[in-house]
Amino acid sequence: VLVSAGPTREQVDPVRYLSNRSSGKMGYAIATAASEAGARVTLISGPTSLPTPDRIERIDVVSAAEMQQAVLAHAAQCDIFIAAAAVADYGIKEQAPHKIKKDAKHLTLELTRNPDILSSVAALPCPPFTVGFAAETENLPDHARAKRSSKAVDMIAANWVNQPGRGFESDENALQVFWEGGEQDLPLAPKQKLARELVKIIAQRYHSRA
Ligand code: PMT
Repeated sequence: VLVSAGPTREQVDPVRYLSNRSSGKMGYAIATAASEAGARVTLISGPTSLPTPDRIERIDVVSAAEMQQAVLAHAAQCDIFIAAAAVADYGIKEQAPHKIKKDAKHLTLELTRNPDILSSVAALPCPPFTVGFAAETENLPDHARAKRSSKAVDMIAANWVNQPGRGFESDENALQVFWEGGEQDLPLAPKQKLARELVKIIAQRYHSRA
């Protein structure tokens, strides 16, 4: 099982970056749950302050491009890919070689679209069973179903990221899981418990597909 977790960072200049609030807790909990269920797990991690879970191979990356490279280097050998990372959708077009001075009153940063890691795994000739996440602030079921079909993935686990006590950084979360012909709600619970329940659903769907 290959799991991505945590945020990515897009470097602006040598001292600044664009990133997001992902702590890595959800992805690390999934990696741990998959390992407890008997899987050999590789965790591709953006910058977090979390310790490496026992019996898990961890590969640290910083940017979305590095995460894509590490994921693609392992995706062909895995049976299941779970993308819990919060990958930056846009990177900086031209990284400044030196610290940007505050001379200008207004500063414009030009951004370019990053590659979509999840879609690139789903588009492999023999893709693994592929599970994406969806971080939503409105119309969660519609956006989650649309992401599942546009990214051509087997399953999407969607969470609210604008409600207190769940989503980014918190120790608890709730998920709505969607797959072809089915869906299941996993109510608010500690991320470790939720991860074990999600791994169970993934195992069922994976085996029924096989
Ligand atoms: O880390 P925590 O603090 O515990 O928070 C957990 C979480 C909120 C980060 C996690 O539960 C979560 O929702 N992760 C996905 C966040 C995200 O990037 O969602 P999205 O809806 O923008 O992306 C959809 C999917 O595409 C995700 O599986 C993402 O990994 C993937 N993606 C996105 C952009 C990109 N360039 N490449 C990708 O592969």
